[in-house]
Amino acid sequence: MTNGWTKREIRDLTGKVAIVTGGNSGIGYETSLALAENYATVVLAVRNINKGLEAVDKIKKEFPNADIHVMKLDLNELESVREFAEEFRKKFRSLSILINNAGVLMPPRKETKDGFESQFGINYLGHFALTGLLLDLIIKTPDSRVISIGSISAHNIKPEFKEFLGAKKKTNTRKCYAQSKLACMYFAKELQYHFRARNIDSMSIACHPGIAQTYIFGKGSRKLKTRLTRASLKVIGQSAEAAAYPILYAATEYSMRGGEYIGPDGRKGIKGFPTELEILNEQFVENVSNNLWVLSEKLTGVTYKF
Ligand SMILES: NC(=O)c1ccc[n+]([C@@H]2O[C@H](COP(=O)([O-])OP(=O)(O)OC[C@H]3O[C@@H](n4cnc5c(N)ncnc54)[C@H](OP(=O)(O)O)[C@@H]3O)[C@@H](O)[C@H]2O)c1
Repeated sequence: MTNGWTKREIRDLTGKVAIVTGGNSGIGYETSLALAENYATVVLAVRNINKGLEAVDKIKKEFPNADIHVMKLDLNELESVREFAEEFRKKFRSLSILINNAGVLMPPRKETKDGFESQFGINYLGHFALTGLLLDLIIKTPDSRVISIGSISAHNIKPEFKEFLGAKKKTNTRKCYAQSKLACMYFAKELQYHFRARNIDSMSIACHPGIAQTYIFGKGSRKLKTRLTRASLKVIGQSAEAAAYPILYAATEYSMRGGEYIGPDGRKGIKGFPTELEILNEQFVENVSNNLWVLSEKLTGVTYKF
């Protein structure tokens, strides 16, 4: 239990460089705001630079001294991920916090530029590539952390990654979203395993935000828009700010050891204060996770060099 942890408890992050993918909107925005408020240098890694600049303006209105940057990253395209990593490397010498937050839910578009089913490609494979391309910086930065975002939709389901990876196959988009989020959760555990096996002191932690009324629901297919109305989300869910707490807790709390799964402590995990959850350990299948890693390296062309 975390005794009602909120962002007020975030420590001074002076000197820490953080990347938040999708930091212009929703949970990513609230995460970026809180990190900047606590003196981290924050890079908003966004697909739309103008939206990123608007977010910077908003953050600077609240915290004029915020050290905040915008850089282009389109997870829909592996080339863009490579360009981002290269540019980041030119500008920064360390990376303390990588928050792999950006995501899409049941989008109308089906394939990424590289031909992957789009949810699997953007939510998971793009972040797998990004982390691998920045790995040396992460490893050489003391107390660095990689945070992956899961979802309640991935709880109590079986991994069927291979089935959902093929873009050409007829896939159920709702199931595909859940599998893409489960892949992010598996990735977090597998990365932590690699760190620990090599005595690397970087940490990999998974978390989920519960349910929050953000733009992600409005960008989905028409069916999703009518089903999950903004009003009902507001009633059952929590604010984007509160939904960012599990991420912020995982990214900043001293008590983290690596390998945890953090989520809201309320009923069914929909809302509440961040706490450590057992469910990922219970549903984790080690050899499946290992196979996913090998396949992801092959599909993205990014080999992890520890
Ligand atoms: N909201 C929830 O209830 C909920 C529940 C479980 C998990 N999550 C997870 O929480 C994370 C944040 O979602 P959110 O609710 O805050 O939704 P959101 O407001 O729609 O934010 C998603 C962010 O991802 C960015 N993004 C989408 N496609 C991208 C791409 N190809 N390249 C780079 N960035 C891209 C979006 O950019 P644009 O602004 O340009 O579209 C936006 O900044 C996601 O991983 C989501 O799966 C959310």
